Parts: sequence; C-alpha cells; structure tokens
Amino acid sequence: MKGPATELIHAGETDRGDAVPLTTPIYETTTFVFDSAEEVVAYNEGRSRKYLYSRYTNPTVVSAEQKTAALDRAERALLFSSGQGATTTILMTHARAGDEVVCSAAIYGGTLHLLEDVLAKFGIAARFVSLEQLANPDSLFTSQTRIVWFESPINPTLRCVDIRRVADACRTRGVLSVVDNTFASPINQQPLSLGVDLVMQSVTKYLNGHSDVTGGAVSGSSALVEPIERMRRMVGTVMDPHPAYALGRGLKTLPLRMARHNENALAVAEFLAQDKRVTEVFYPGLLSHPDHDVARRQMVGYGGMVCFDLGGSYERAARTYDRLQVIKRAASLGGVESLVSLPVLTSQWGHTDAQLREAGVTKGMLRLSVGLEDAADLIEDLDQAIAR
Ligand SMILES: Cc1ncc(COP(=O)(O)O)c(C=O)c1O
Repeated sequence: MKGPATELIHAGETDRGDAVPLTTPIYETTTFVFDSAEEVVAYNEGRSRKYLYSRYTNPTVVSAEQKTAALDRAERALLFSSGQGATTTILMTHARAGDEVVCSAAIYGGTLHLLEDVLAKFGIAARFVSLEQLANPDSLFTSQTRIVWFESPINPTLRCVDIRRVADACRTRGVLSVVDNTFASPINQQPLSLGVDLVMQSVTKYLNGHSDVTGGAVSGSSALVEPIERMRRMVGTVMDPHPAYALGRGLKTLPLRMARHNENALAVAEFLAQDKRVTEVFYPGLLSHPDHDVARRQMVGYGGMVCFDLGGSYERAARTYDRLQVIKRAASLGGVESLVSLPVLTSQWGHTDAQLREAGVTKGMLRLSVGLEDAADLIEDLDQAIAR
C-alpha cells in the first residue's frame, strides 16, 4: 500500500471492469491516460481512437455530437458552450480580415452585436440586408462577400426566407451560406437538405428542450466542420461533458417533443386568430401568414413560436403579460414550459418607431414559446389574460 493521499487519488480510477453501459456516461474528466510514449505518438499522428484532452474532444460530447449530426443529416456536428460560442467559432473560422458577411437584419441580437461590436474590430465587415433583399438573393453579393448568414423563421414575426433560393445563389458564387435553425428545429426544417452549407443552432432551445442547458451546435460537411473544430480548440468554446450528457438525453425525445410543440402552437394560434381582442396572429402554419407558402415548402411542422398583436397597444400587451399564470414571463424558448415575452422589452428594446416599423414589430406584440402543457390550459390562460 502507498500512503493514504496517493491511494485516495489513484485507487479505483483505472479498472473499469467489463461494464457496458446502455447510456453514455458523463466522462467528467479533463484529461485521458496513455500507457506509453508510442500511444501518444499514435494519437498525434491520427492513428489512434484515444482521447487526449477534453477541450479537444470528450466521449460524452462526441456522443451528443453524433446524435446532432444524425439529426441534421450531416457528416459532422460540433457542440459549443453556447449558441454564441458556436456563432463566434464558425465566423472566426470561415471569415478573415477584408471579408464581408452579409447578414439578415432580422437576426438574433447576439449575432448582430457579435458582428458589429467584435468581428468588425478584426476587419470582418457586416452588411445587414432586409427580407426583401433575401427574397431576391442575386442582389446580395459584392466581390468581398464570403458568408451569407440568416434565420428562418425570424423573431418575433416568424417571417420566412426561401432557404433554397439563398443557398443556390450562394453556391453559384462560391459564398458560404449559414442558417441559424434555432427557431424551427431540425425536426421541422432541414437546411442542409435545402442546399445550405452550414447549420447553426442554439441547443439551449428545442434540442435540449428542458431549459437547463446552455449550448450551441454546428453541422455540415467534414470539409467545412473540421477547420471549425481546430478553431474551437484554440478559442476554447467547447461544450462541457455534463451539459453534453443532458443534451444527449434531451435529444432522444426531440421528435416527440416537437410534434407536441407543433400541435399545441397551432391550437393556440387558431384560438388567437378567432379572438376578437387580438388584431393579428403570426404563425407560419396559418393560411393568413404572409410566408405560409414558403413555410409549407420547406418546413414539415411549423414550430412552437407564436406571436400576436393587441392593436399596437403597449398598455394592453403589458397588462396581458402580467396576468398570465400558466405561461411564464421569461426570455428564451424551446423548453417544455410555455414562456411569454414582449418583443419591445427584449429583442426590440430601445428601437425607434422607425426601426420597429422596419422590423414589422409593434408595441402591442406578445411572443409565445408554446410548451408541452395541455393545450386547453394554455388557451384558458390566454383567454383569462388578454386585455381589452
Ligand atoms: C435564434 C437564436 N440564435 C442564437 C441564439 C444564441 O444562443 P445562446 O443563448 O445559446 O448563446 C439565440 C438565443 O436566444 C437565438 O434565439
């Protein structure tokens, strides 16, 4: 026997016996053991299936990455510490000083600020374009354009972009197309099969689905994803094994959850559409939505996000917001719990009237992330809460 300190550190650590777990355990370790110098050489030369260090790769993270790749029908997927970590790492890999990133103006605020406040300092220029410009993608490009980055459906009006059209225009010019697929989820929309090069998502939302993990993902061809993996090692944006375990568990029920999100959101949207107190409902699954045809072509379900307007009145929207009981007042989306937010206090906070008009957003709008509760309870909650 060695001394107690040595024994307590090393005893029981390496003999794993013959246990073959059904589920992937949490490899909560920062580093991995080698038996010999030759094994390290084999690892360095890419001749080994060993792991070296968890900032590079970790079996729990790799397991959830394989599920994500399967979900996106991609050759490779990578996981990150957040959606923002994924976006940063993708852009730092595939854009360089002097390049221009064409980005939808209707984009997640974090993406916009990353481009304007951070990447601009490194000589990567962003040019923001309207939905009309994205609908006619041939006009999007300059000789500097390297990446086109967009979302569909967008926040909070759920307007949709014709993904295949933008992807085709990018491909003919050798420009990389990237879709942030967070709002739709891969169950409802498969951007890679529509011709996009890379798909990014905040797994914080539907993919994990239980409002308890922050993470991000990218999926695409090995040729495009491998350089992102090398960048991830350098900038250190990898996901930790513990959230990767939770994500892997969440992913197993994603198709079931999305079916219920789609069903509940449609029921809520249809209720709102017939309610006289509501002036407009935005849900891509409704015939009245301006992009219903685009959505029908490229989505198999219309998702869990619904937005509605109470005559542009902030006072009525705020009163409704305050009265909801089952639906919780919280940012974010895609979890089992239904959430409500007021776009003028979140995504459009501080916007001028002109900027609100440009985004198609009013002060009377409420955005719902419809969860997995019983639809009748959500409808009753809204019915009781909507202010006249
Ligand atoms: C569409 C979209 N993309 C990206 C992000 C950023 O993801 P995360 O919060 O996981 O960094 C969000 C977060 O709200 C989002 O809604």
